[in-house]
Amino acid sequence: MPLDLPQTFRHHVFCCAQQRPPGHPRGSCAAKGAHPLWQRLDQKIQGKGLTDVGMAMTGCLGFCSAGPLMVVYPEGIWYRPETPEDIDEIVESHLVGDTPVERLVMVLTR
Ligand code: FES
Repeated sequence: MPLDLPQTFRHHVFCCAQQRPPGHPRGSCAAKGAHPLWQRLDQKIQGKGLTDVGMAMTGCLGFCSAGPLMVVYPEGIWYRPETPEDIDEIVESHLVGDTPVERLVMVLTR
């Protein structure tokens, strides 16, 4: 039976900030340029006054080779942004407009 609980955020974004040493076989999202992207995401969320959007840095999300990765809940949509413009599009379309950016969606399979 699903629980009908009040939600703190309309969207909650989790961003992998994992850093591993150079040469590590798994690599890391940080080594693939994640931090400047997450900084931009934070600036955009703050700048637009999106108080109903939460953002948190995480450790490894488990799909390092696909990084840098972020996931947006409650939809559970995974993104692999590559540029600042990708971040801007995710903010405008998904976090403001509730429309996922299909071209940046990652379909992850185990
Ligand atoms: S280091 Fe980001 S998913 Fe593993």
